[in-house]
Amino acid sequence: MARLPAVLSKPPVVLRRTTAVDVDEMLLVIEESVEHLRPWMAWAAEDPTAESVRAHIARCDDDWDRGVDFAYAITVDSRIVGRCGTRFLAGTRGVEMGYWLHPDAVGRGIATAATEAMLVAVFALPDVDWVEIVHDTANPRSGAIPRRLGFREVARVSPPQEPITPGEDGVDVRWRLTRTDFLASGLG
Ligand SMILES: CC(C)(COP(=O)(O)OP(=O)(O)OC[C@H]1O[C@@H](n2cnc3c(N)ncnc32)[C@H](O)[C@@H]1OP(=O)(O)O)[C@@H](O)C(=O)NCCC(=O)NCCS
Repeated sequence: MARLPAVLSKPPVVLRRTTAVDVDEMLLVIEESVEHLRPWMAWAAEDPTAESVRAHIARCDDDWDRGVDFAYAITVDSRIVGRCGTRFLAGTRGVEMGYWLHPDAVGRGIATAATEAMLVAVFALPDVDWVEIVHDTANPRSGAIPRRLGFREVARVSPPQEPITPGEDGVDVRWRLTRTDFLASGLG
């Protein structure tokens, strides 16, 4: 079963596994972020509540324990400023990464640093050959992160089953970083 460390770091960013203790802080961060996330993230359609955040963290804990999905709080100076995660794709030697930031945290390289910290951790595992990041073509800020980290664009597809959020045009851009490209990149 896959295992990632509970804490990762790429200064000034520290990623850490969340627990029930984080419900109040996560609720505040999501409340302040939800409008900025709504165009891109289906779960942000609903306003958060303490109960929905508690249930989310409990689900993340369960996924973490089962080794399928590793969701981190993105922190700077010990304060939560966003969330990111690495999901192992069943039946493959690959993972998919995702991220979002509080609106006050954008434009400082925080999501790029968080993604780099996760890349270093997953490529330390012998059974991961590639990492993918997927975003809508209408969301170039998201695409700038894999571009900055040396990913290559590998596909543009319109999956019919995917819910379209208000900002999306329904065309996914799929970026991939292979282990070979990662080792040549000097990241980490
Ligand atoms: C996607 C999202 C996380 C990107 O945030 P971001 O702030 O653009 O990304 P980063 O934190 O990596 O910061 C990059 C910016 O910081 C700047 N920067 C400053 N220092 C930097 C550094 N050391 N390294 C990299 N970039 C740095 C970059 O130039 C860039 O600025 P620019 O956009 O003006 O060119 C954010 O827009 C967001 O939360 N969007 C809503 C949710 C979402 O769309 N999630 C993805 C769904 S697929």
